[in-house]
Amino acid sequence: PHSQRPDHDDKDRQLDGFRAAPESDALTTDQGVRVDDTDNALRAGARGPTLLEDFHNREKLTHFDHERIPERVVHARGAGAYGHFEPYESLAEYTCADFLQEPGRRTPVFVRFSTVQGPRGSADTVRDVRGFATKFYTREGNYDLVGNNFPVFFIQDAIKFPDFVHAVKMEPHNEMPTGASAHDTFWDFCSLQPESTHMLMWLMSDRAIPRSFRMMQGFGVHTFRFVNAAGRGTFVKFHWKPLLGVNSLVWDEAQIAAGRDPDFNRRDLWEAIEAGNYPEYELGVQLVAEEDEDAFEFDLLDATKIIPEEQVPVQPIGRMVLDRNPQNFFAETEQVAFHTANVVPGIDFTNDPLLQGRNFSYLDTQLIRLGGPNFSQLPVNRPIADVNTNHRDGYGQQVIQQGNSYFPNSLSGGCPAHAGAGEASGVFRHYQQPVAGEKVRVRSESFKDHYSQATLFWNSMSDWEKAHIVEAFRFELGKVGSDEVRERMVANLANVHGDLSGAVAAGLGLPAPQAAATIHSFSSPALSQENLGGDGGI
Ligand code: HEM
Repeated sequence: PHSQRPDHDDKDRQLDGFRAAPESDALTTDQGVRVDDTDNALRAGARGPTLLEDFHNREKLTHFDHERIPERVVHARGAGAYGHFEPYESLAEYTCADFLQEPGRRTPVFVRFSTVQGPRGSADTVRDVRGFATKFYTREGNYDLVGNNFPVFFIQDAIKFPDFVHAVKMEPHNEMPTGASAHDTFWDFCSLQPESTHMLMWLMSDRAIPRSFRMMQGFGVHTFRFVNAAGRGTFVKFHWKPLLGVNSLVWDEAQIAAGRDPDFNRRDLWEAIEAGNYPEYELGVQLVAEEDEDAFEFDLLDATKIIPEEQVPVQPIGRMVLDRNPQNFFAETEQVAFHTANVVPGIDFTNDPLLQGRNFSYLDTQLIRLGGPNFSQLPVNRPIADVNTNHRDGYGQQVIQQGNSYFPNSLSGGCPAHAGAGEASGVFRHYQQPVAGEKVRVRSESFKDHYSQATLFWNSMSDWEKAHIVEAFRFELGKVGSDEVRERMVANLANVHGDLSGAVAAGLGLPAPQAAATIHSFSSPALSQENLGGDGGI
């Protein structure tokens, strides 16, 4: 099947240097000493005690005892693949990111798809968000687009993330349930947290049970920033669209698949790639000029909101093909480390408070998950760009550093210097956004509308899609023990749409809750630069 694979890309060639290629297949110890017998420990007499002197036995058991590392605190279960990305046209007008300058120029990628809630050994086809994380190995360093298959999120501020995850994960006393999100703590949290409502609509829709990783969308979720060579910023939202279209299971199929083949999505991805049916996704962007930051009825910095495509169309900018399965699950899929702060010149952040927290959290968690500060030297994480830092030492250090590691430095030629003020191209310079304000613990007023887009989502559904959403709410809330939580949740849904809350309440045997007082509607803002939202390509 590999005969159809395109030529080695840069990452593939780099990995060649890491692949174990023994000159002979004779068994050795870690020190390269050939072993005579790996089936019988050294003992004093055929029925006597095992001897401590047997270094092969000790090394074999010790290494085995240390095989496990902590699973990810979220997104523990995943499947990965290598491939490449190529832009359709130059995006130089908006970003100086090197990998987006030349039509057709290939950049190697590694993608990891995941579920969020369950542990490493949980089933694939549970009702959950799916992670869609892409590492672009660009010539100017690694760029990670760490997204999900939904365009919005449960919370607006990263400080809520530990609360949210504690509510969604297994309960502390009995570590149940795994799989579906039907339990009291999750629904208790969401019913008290109206900002989750829009995300709940997606979670109860068929999007939460994708038929295949090859058939789901991906979203960067946050508003990011493109920065061009002149230093001009443009807000950007990222969208992946699968060539095979978006397809979902229905709930009964998802449950049967979880029982019959808990690896349903993982196997599908693996087998498709082995068979040469390479998954393909188109990358699209929604672009908003800096001066239009306040032109919307919602806040661009609020990760519980989409930019409706009627207001700003998605423009296709390139395609990604996944054409190579990893050789070793642990080395590649488990040890890959994505981080929203892994950006390259031309791509920058916004003040989205969820994104700002993520920019701290990923590196922090990986320091413990991957055992110290040198995990970027692991083969799957290693950039294809030159790496030349003044860091030193630490667990797992693989590099024999030459010279000193401080700056400024007149003694050692080996010490890396910074680029200097004159050197503009290829250097990461933070976008120069003016900021001012008092130190306050408040949420912006512009983040306060939690229902309009949930209503928009509901109204955009066909009848059968609405029926599936109602059934999902009934199923999930039907598992909740507390009447108070169920009633509060259904009352919350009344703010989305009376049809929804009424149907869910009827299914749960609850009285119809009060209809929503106000349903907001969206009107199109006057965008200052038509070409940003126009229907032509870039
Ligand atoms: C892992 C997406 C919010 C913390 C992940 C992964 C994805 C993802 C795709 C899996 C990465 C992989 O495959 O290795 C998102 C999205 C978010 C979001 C789209 C919201 C828009 C947050 C927030 C935090 C957070 C707010 C914390 C402040 C983490 C952590 C991991 C993780 C700690 C485990 C990383 C690792 O061990 O490698 N997230 N996440 N995430 N996320 Fe998020």
